[in-house]
Amino acid sequence: MLGIIILAAGQGTRMKSALPKVMHKVAGITMLHHVLDATKPLAPEQIVVVASKALLPYVNQKDADYIIQENPQGTGHAVQCALQYLKPNITEVIILCGDTPLITPDTLHTLKKSKADVNILSMYLSGDDLSKAYGRLIIEGNSVSRIVEMKEATNGEKLLPYANAGVYKVSITILKTTLPLLTNNNKSKEYYLTDIVRLAHTQKNSTSYILGEADEFFGVNSKADLSCAEQIMQDRLRAQHMHNGVTLIDPKTVFFSMDTRAEPDVTIHPFVTFGPNVTLKTGAIVYQSCHLENAILHQNTKVGPFAHLRGDVELLEKAEIGNFVEIKKSTINKGAKIKHLSYIGDATIGIKANIGAGVITCNYNGFTKSQTIIGDGAFVGSNSSLIAPVTIHRNSIIGAGSTITQNVNENDLVFTRCPQTTKEKGAIKFKDKYKN
Ligand code: UD1
Ligand code: CA
Repeated sequence: MLGIIILAAGQGTRMKSALPKVMHKVAGITMLHHVLDATKPLAPEQIVVVASKALLPYVNQKDADYIIQENPQGTGHAVQCALQYLKPNITEVIILCGDTPLITPDTLHTLKKSKADVNILSMYLSGDDLSKAYGRLIIEGNSVSRIVEMKEATNGEKLLPYANAGVYKVSITILKTTLPLLTNNNKSKEYYLTDIVRLAHTQKNSTSYILGEADEFFGVNSKADLSCAEQIMQDRLRAQHMHNGVTLIDPKTVFFSMDTRAEPDVTIHPFVTFGPNVTLKTGAIVYQSCHLENAILHQNTKVGPFAHLRGDVELLEKAEIGNFVEIKKSTINKGAKIKHLSYIGDATIGIKANIGAGVITCNYNGFTKSQTIIGDGAFVGSNSSLIAPVTIHRNSIIGAGSTITQNVNENDLVFTRCPQTTKEKGAIKFKDKYKN
């Protein structure tokens, strides 16, 4: 039976953040979650996360068995801490790090199928990448005789091209025989997990490696690394969506969440960001410079340019949201239009209702939120304020510039306006008064 050990107890000091390193997000989900998600398709018997105490308040303890490494003394020490918590039926483990969010299930499947007693995922470095701080594999024939950490490497070893990705498959027997033999007799005064390779090889076990894409093993140690990981993940998501038939006018400027769902023939214009939980159905168009989260756009809806949808929004077929419109927690029924400069919050907008420029639902009195309901075919004139709770029944008309505090009945025409005052030629007198 396969077990998974994810190492995530390191301090992450180089992130310069109060948030534990593996809780930083890439494409909207935490790095730890990316790693957990990549391991789940392997159907492991158990997942153990080696965590720091500081990490616990942030995690969902149902995702895995979290164990605490009290006093971190290196990756070898971390695995040793995990060992005693593994279920007795586990015969081999895949060990990986919580700070490598780009690893894919496919690569882990290949590792799972490998036959060697110890198998190491590796990447081939060349050019400038040779200076990267990854441990290096010392390869003898078909075996890996040891891994040398860069800190310990001779100048010759530093130029070896096969780098340790920090992901391994190891039999439990080997972990049990080699981990107790580790020493911290090295430059970092740490128990290096990588030393188990030398010990396993000396004990005549088979030690092998599998080459993978360097991108997948990218480890995040700093905010600069985090932005690199984000770029790589976004490129993957853009490619995936285009492969599925989504049109991206300028892919580099569109940012997805891992859970963004888009059907074929959705079109996304430049500079659009998707927060969590957005679904786009066929024919939906998102114009330039929009931010969408927790939203469903049904078929042939249009949003933007410059629109903000958030907090549970549903646009039914052919609904249209235009520029400088914010919609929060509202349902916009079929064919309804809110085309300019509006805030619509805690509202239901009826079929083919027309909401004029600058209409605001006043949903918040500083203490509580209230609902605005607008019926089918209603017409709300420009620059009206709708003081919630309020219902505007269907096919009614609200005159422009009204402040609506009471319900409006079906088919009524309602407006609230001061009479207009005219002072003939008053403009001339006014200007004369202020001249000089
Ligand atoms: C490690 C490998 C290196 C490899 C690289 C790949 C060792 C000794 N070196 O180096 O060969 O090329 O990963 O990215 O393993 N952690 C704990 N407890 C500890 C120490 C670390 O849980 O006591 C966790 C960290 O949170 C991190 C992971 O282990 O998620 C790796 O530790 P890190 O210190 O980043 O190792 P590297 O120096 O990157
Ligand atoms: Ca690292």
